[in-house]
Amino acid sequence: MSANKQVIGSIYNTEKMFLRIGEHLVTKHFKKSSDYLKRFDLERRSLLRLKQLDHVPDLVRVVEWDTTLHLSRLPGVSATSLTAENLIDLEKIVEQMLIAGVARHSMPIRDVLVDERGEVSLVDFERSTLRSFRWSPIWLIATKVTRYHFLKLVEHHQPQMLTADQCEQLRKAVAIRRYFLVFRKLRDFIRRR
Ligand SMILES: Nc1ncnc2c1ncn2[C@@H]1O[C@H](COP(=O)(O)OP(=O)(O)O)[C@@H](O)[C@H]1O
Ligand SMILES: [Mg+2]
Repeated sequence: MSANKQVIGSIYNTEKMFLRIGEHLVTKHFKKSSDYLKRFDLERRSLLRLKQLDHVPDLVRVVEWDTTLHLSRLPGVSATSLTAENLIDLEKIVEQMLIAGVARHSMPIRDVLVDERGEVSLVDFERSTLRSFRWSPIWLIATKVTRYHFLKLVEHHQPQMLTADQCEQLRKAVAIRRYFLVFRKLRDFIRRR
């Protein structure tokens, strides 16, 4: 977590967000900053799709005019390490999330909560892709991105859990990312000339 991203007591305040963590409720206010309306809308719509799921926040109230969401508070605090059991539980949440039609663009460990009994939850859905139809190419790519980020967490915390096939998937994904990076640098270079 960077220096300007601290959960101080029950308040989390950044240039983009004001979050109050109460005993039972969390209030997430999207400050006027880049894409804030889009992020607010995506988190709201994602949580509506996920309303049957356990281990993600319930959407309790939406205050549109103030771009504020009232969410149920989940148990635990942001994880700093993940056990094999945590990762097995997290994978179930991720797969259920994909079945519900929500794919995350990233999965930072601070969005994974673990409580003292080892119960795992997932928060923060403002950067996600929602499935429009089953075979949408964008949706299929987004599901790969989500699973890639999950595998990166496994690789970082419990690498022995990765199967040979998953190691290969990670290797291929890194090669594709490198290719896009070179492509982008080349494009920027040509544009500058
Ligand atoms: N529903 C919730 N229950 C408990 N803690 C939460 C909840 N939502 C967020 N948090 C805590 O607040 C932190 C910041 O919230 P998050 O939605 O991730 O904001 P940001 O979009 O700025 O990353 C999370 O990493 C988590 O520790
Ligand atoms: Mg977050």
